[in-house]
Amino acid sequence: MTELPGSVNATAIHPLDPSHFAPSETRITHVVFPGTTNHHGTLFGGEALAYMDSAAFIAATRHCRRKVVTRHLGAMEFRRPIPQGTLVELIARVVATGRTSMTVRVDLLIEQMDSPARELGCTGTFVLVALGDDGQPTDVPPLEGATDGR
Ligand SMILES: CC(C)(COP(=O)(O)OP(=O)(O)OC[C@H]1O[C@@H](n2cnc3c(N)ncnc32)[C@H](O)[C@@H]1OP(=O)(O)O)[C@@H](O)C(=O)NCCC(=O)NCCS
Repeated sequence: MTELPGSVNATAIHPLDPSHFAPSETRITHVVFPGTTNHHGTLFGGEALAYMDSAAFIAATRHCRRKVVTRHLGAMEFRRPIPQGTLVELIARVVATGRTSMTVRVDLLIEQMDSPARELGCTGTFVLVALGDDGQPTDVPPLEGATDGR
């Protein structure tokens, strides 16, 4: 098989090999359908928050592989309206860890269906806490110790 110049050798990247991706990084794409919008025809803020919280939950779970719950929302910004009929991509990654908590940054990117250009719609930070079998906060791996690939 002839490889295109500059192309990635697809056989060198195995989708199940954790060394090829940042373990906590989470990307989720949605279409903004009418059922999720407000009367202005833009994504309802609570819906955007739910998308972001889900992405943060998955990123934190991937970091610690424990049961996690959202403890705190911080620095939430809704920068642009998100029109019905666009695509939104959530990108979440653990950016800091404490003893039992993980801070996850979540960006929501807006993409028109007829253009690959994307712009930042919302951004926020979420603090999630890992829980042990007793339902109490339990230790999480430090970020430096995680092979986050960065
Ligand atoms: C998560 C829960 C068990 C933690 O109990 P708690 O008594 O607050 O525990 P702690 O005070 O030991 O705090 C746990 C961690 O959260 C951090 N934390 C607590 N309040 C915080 C706040 N307002 N902002 C940021 N971090 C906070 C603490 O610093 C600690 O982190 P560290 O161990 O890395 O230092 C409890 O608060 C809870 O069940 N909350 C409800 C969660 C929930 O239902 N979420 C929504 C659905 S997922």
